[in-house]
Amino acid sequence: MQIQGQVVIITGGASGLGEATAKRLAQAQAKVIVLDRQLSQAQAIAQTLQGAAYECDVTREDQVTQVLQTVQREHGIAKVCVNCAGIAPGQRIVGKQGPMPLADFEQVIAVNLIGTFNVLRLVAAQMFEASPMGEDGERGVIINTASVAAFEGQIGQAAYSASKGGVVGLTLPAAREFAKFGIRVNTIAPGLMETPMMAGMSEEVRKKLIEQALFPKRLGHPDEYARLVSHIIENPMINGATLRLDGAVHLPPK
Ligand SMILES: NC(=O)c1ccc[n+]([C@@H]2O[C@H](COP(=O)([O-])OP(=O)(O)OC[C@H]3O[C@@H](n4cnc5c(N)ncnc54)[C@H](O)[C@@H]3O)[C@@H](O)[C@H]2O)c1
Repeated sequence: MQIQGQVVIITGGASGLGEATAKRLAQAQAKVIVLDRQLSQAQAIAQTLQGAAYECDVTREDQVTQVLQTVQREHGIAKVCVNCAGIAPGQRIVGKQGPMPLADFEQVIAVNLIGTFNVLRLVAAQMFEASPMGEDGERGVIINTASVAAFEGQIGQAAYSASKGGVVGLTLPAAREFAKFGIRVNTIAPGLMETPMMAGMSEEVRKKLIEQALFPKRLGHPDEYARLVSHIIENPMINGATLRLDGAVHLPPK
């Protein structure tokens, strides 16, 4: 699908990978719609890109339903949706304070897995109504964000890994279900990317993680994620896939 002229929804677009994606797709002349629970940051980014921003918690059925209706009314049907909203708190299953509270596990699943599914199902329903485009009759492209932690979760990442494993798991059944409507669904599983999510780690932890990368020996730049998003949108043969973007990092147990 060509990027130019498409309405593109980016959840979590106020920071990190989502922000970089918003910038790259706006440069390619898409109409970028940033959905984030941090409204002022989302607005600041959207303004520089001649896009639009809406406050939205991806876990909330009512909010996402309402925001997507507003987006369709004001901008038209989004043909591309990039799900970047996510959280990554680390916690042992049984730590010094005892077993991890169930509510903490539920919160990570709610944002990363249920939030992704919530947006995907509602955005896909709108895409069903779009006119097919191009020689393949494409109606939409949905790109989710998992993590290499879906495959190699470290100690302290049980909730995060479970949530991202869920995102990987729903990718193929969603692509299979939406194929007859000309909608592709793919997931990117990044390794270690230089974003505010990673800013909290100490220099020592950072060094240790970088050592695990095969090549290049550094954290990934957010724009490298955005470049893969652009490619997935433009290449119709990429469907139902989870693509690692990680410099061949394979994380050790801790
Ligand atoms: N940075 C990395 O190394 C890395 C690696 C693998 C996967 N990821 C994944 O990539 C995605 C983006 O991460 P990032 O590094 O850009 O993080 P980030 O913290 O910079 O950005 C995440 C954005 O999501 C928003 N968000 C969080 N919860 C939300 C909710 N309930 N509703 C709406 N918005 C919400 C935040 O406000 C923020 O703007 C996440 O899903 C993350 O798990 C990141």
